Amino acid sequence: MSALRIVGLTGHLTLPSRTQWLADHIVGRVAAATGGEGVIYSVMDYGADLGRTFERKHACAQLEAVLRDIETCDVLVAVTPVYKGGYAGLFKHMIDLVDMKLLAGRPVIAAATGYSERHGGVVDHLMRPLFAFFGADVVPSGIFAGKADIDEQHQMVASLEAAVAAAVQQAARRSAMARAG
Ligand SMILES: Cc1cc2nc3c(=O)[nH]c(=O)nc-3n(C[C@H](O)[C@H](O)[C@H](O)COP(=O)(O)O)c2cc1C
Repeated sequence: MSALRIVGLTGHLTLPSRTQWLADHIVGRVAAATGGEGVIYSVMDYGADLGRTFERKHACAQLEAVLRDIETCDVLVAVTPVYKGGYAGLFKHMIDLVDMKLLAGRPVIAAATGYSERHGGVVDHLMRPLFAFFGADVVPSGIFAGKADIDEQHQMVASLEAAVAAAVQQAARRSAMARAG
């Protein structure tokens, strides 16, 4: 049987990036928990192509490959920075190009980074409904990392560590059940 495929999608537009680090960390943890293989796509790497792709049929081969990987993964780890109170625009644009039938039942970990704890609700109020639209299986534990939650050495506060551990366990259980049929 092939290894589980864990796909991360990140919405940050600059480097270095806390969003990128958090996505790397979560994808790595899910891969370790499942024996799966992880890959991460950052929208900034596809910015120009992505921005001018208004319809899926016009996606270039590189972008099409990313979209196919998102649509066929075993676990999707979606991590966006909070921009102006919501998810990053290019992150949403990438998701807008995903086939509306192909994320159904797929385990999704929804996560965001932001400056202010006041915007932690983006995960439950924007990310969760976005993936619920697709009928995806968004794990109960949402992850939000505010400015003080990850330090310069990438140490996470206990509450963030607990949220990551719970989400990883929930996604691993769901992907194992999906494999078992
Ligand atoms: C254009 C822009 C808008 C932002 N808007 C918000 C916001 O509304 N709320 C918030 O908490 N942080 C906001 N931030 C801060 C980022 O969400 C935060 O620094 C995030 O962790 C950046 O992730 P990165 O390191 O991956 O770029 C904004 C940052 C930028 C660049």
